[in-house]
Amino acid sequence: MHYQLEIPPRVIIGTDARTSVAQEAMNFGWSRVLVVSDPFHEASGRTSEINELLSKAGLEVSVYSGVTGEPDTEMVTRGLKQFKADKCEGIVALGGGSVIDTAKTISVLAVNDGTVQQYMGTDTVTKPGVGVIALPTTSGTGSEATRVVVIGDSQSSLKMSGRSKAYVPSVAILDYKLTMSMPKPLTAASGIDALTHAIEAYVSRQANDFTDLLALSAVRLIRNSIEHVWHDGSDEDARQDMLMGSFQAGIAFSNSSVGLVHSMSEPLGACFHVPHGLSNAMLLPAVTKFSVAGAPSRYAEIARCMDLANSSMADEECCQLLIDGLQQLNRELEIPSPKSFGIGKALYEEHIEKMAGDAAAAGSTGNNPVIPTIDQINEIYRSTYDT
Ligand SMILES: NC(=O)c1ccc[n+]([C@@H]2O[C@H](COP(=O)([O-])OP(=O)(O)OC[C@H]3O[C@@H](n4cnc5c(N)ncnc54)[C@H](O)[C@@H]3O)[C@@H](O)[C@H]2O)c1
Ligand SMILES: [Fe+2]
Repeated sequence: MHYQLEIPPRVIIGTDARTSVAQEAMNFGWSRVLVVSDPFHEASGRTSEINELLSKAGLEVSVYSGVTGEPDTEMVTRGLKQFKADKCEGIVALGGGSVIDTAKTISVLAVNDGTVQQYMGTDTVTKPGVGVIALPTTSGTGSEATRVVVIGDSQSSLKMSGRSKAYVPSVAILDYKLTMSMPKPLTAASGIDALTHAIEAYVSRQANDFTDLLALSAVRLIRNSIEHVWHDGSDEDARQDMLMGSFQAGIAFSNSSVGLVHSMSEPLGACFHVPHGLSNAMLLPAVTKFSVAGAPSRYAEIARCMDLANSSMADEECCQLLIDGLQQLNRELEIPSPKSFGIGKALYEEHIEKMAGDAAAAGSTGNNPVIPTIDQINEIYRSTYDT
């Protein structure tokens, strides 16, 4: 038995790490760079700060801030067009998972001919893309470290995912100061996304010794900081720990896998425009309740790591405390249910069959500790509606 690890070759971590962006770009020998960002960062002045750092070092900068939501094929295609028109040589991504996924996909298409769809699925990319320097501004997706992109199909609105070595960024710059401006709902949803990555990586059928270490470390970091940072967004230590936790969780799931929470979350997000982190958070307690029987000792270890249980307790008791603890965390962080998010009961019911079919077909379902039937997935969606 052997396993492979794919991790960013260079990572810069710490206070004001973002100021190293120009040196990193120069290390590639680029003279023209595409900065991929979004309207929030453009308006808040963060994009200009990065542009100035790059310009002062003598680089020509082209800004693409057309990532107006979770990315789709059109956003990628427009960015690619600009990359080519402005003869850019590399990419700096400043934003959350949406911006970083867009940047990673533009990078691959800048070198590989064809459509976005051709490079979705597993190991579909042949040639490495252009260099990407990723600066995450949310503590959630871990995209700055992963071999994964999630891109919606603008025609069908289906969420596609690509998993290839070429999607691992060349440089990740982790500067928690970029995350300080996150409002409460984003802090909560992206933080639970990161926690879900860590939990699903640890209980995955693809888990290995290396991903286990990072997954448990991420669970601890996130558990110890998520409530602090939600109550007090200016808590720098907690922001730093959340960013490190989400980075570690990203490496963990990218080198093992996610599971049923993510399989069920994508269709929920696609049908009802629920942001990724939020749809994960809505599903995490119910999917955990369903899945514990497949890996009780692993879920029990997570409960202990989260200080929800202690070593003298039997696994079964720890698993129940974990389910209760995750429900309590959702309440504490004011995570809405699908109902309180505003999805009507009849409309939700109408979509369950389609969502369950898509979730059953998703690649990560087969890595869940318990592999569900379609009826069981239907039931989990139903039980999540109003909790
Ligand atoms: N590639 C991966 O490994 C991976 C993993 C999980 C999720 N994803 C994908 O990532 C996307 C979600 O990314 P996300 O959760 O980071 O959110 P996001 O990038 O979609 O951003 C959400 C909103 O928050 C704003 N925002 C971002 N940073 C901010 C900050 N510091 N202060 C204030 N506002 C800020 C953005 O402008 C946007 O309006 C989804 O498309 C999801 O499918 C990718
Ligand atoms: Fe996720």
